[in-house]
Amino acid sequence: MNEMIKKQLNHRSIRQFKDKDIPDEVFDTLIKVAQRTATSVGMQQSSIIKVTDSNLKKEIARVCNQQYVADAPVLLIFIADLYRNYQIALEQGHDMKSAGDMDKFFAAYTDAILAAQNVVNAAESMDLGTVFLGSILNDPRQICQLLELPKYTFPAIGLAIGYPDQEPQLKPRMDMSLRLFENKYKKFDNYLEEIKDHDREMEAYYDLRSPDKPLKKFSLQVLDRLIEAPQEKRQVIKCIEEQGFHIE
Ligand SMILES: Cc1cc2nc3c(=O)[nH]c(=O)nc-3n(C[C@H](O)[C@H](O)[C@H](O)COP(=O)(O)O)c2cc1C
Repeated sequence: MNEMIKKQLNHRSIRQFKDKDIPDEVFDTLIKVAQRTATSVGMQQSSIIKVTDSNLKKEIARVCNQQYVADAPVLLIFIADLYRNYQIALEQGHDMKSAGDMDKFFAAYTDAILAAQNVVNAAESMDLGTVFLGSILNDPRQICQLLELPKYTFPAIGLAIGYPDQEPQLKPRMDMSLRLFENKYKKFDNYLEEIKDHDREMEAYYDLRSPDKPLKKFSLQVLDRLIEAPQEKRQVIKCIEEQGFHIE
């Protein structure tokens, strides 16, 4: 097993960082990895905003409702970005409204997410810790305003990076027999039965965010998340539309 795989199999999200800056050359390497990431039809429809302004970090942390966002030595926001290519076409005399098509949105969104995960792998290979921040979408409109995102852009995900100041347990995952299928999708007759072991493992996992009590069973976590109705609360789709994308 090579070192990269060892690091990947040891992945855990880090939410507490040492008060230590990431050297410029290390950061530059992370950005080169983002640049080199595969990109849908070569269109390079993602961008990264490095948030260095401490007030802006605090504002974003407020949206995320997570203090560790403000404390992260490096905070990156990965943007699905069709604005640049829209402008490139416009400067050639073509007002291409197709920049707002949903299939293009998904291509750009995927580009942004792949770049983010590639940065995570690179960061972990250099003993840095990371945590994704989907919580920027608690209030996507506010994030768009804070980062002055133009039309045809959307904040896909945040990423906090720094030297780990905690060592969480590896968080359990369900058996891949439930997630890896051959040739066609496989349905199971009784999922609760299938995930019984995973439920038990999860109950024995202590999240450092609330170390005094173990997590709920996975099956109950699933229920909680689905009951939450986040779409209504967070207005993600509405905001995608406001950013110029055509939902219909
Ligand atoms: C799309 C995505 C969004 C996430 N958003 C957040 C977040 O907003 N805050 C946070 O603390 N962790 C976030 N995470 C981290 C997950 O909570 C974490 O990956 C998961 O609980 C598994 O734990 P592990 O990464 O330690 O294995 C996110 C992960 C992903 C993939």
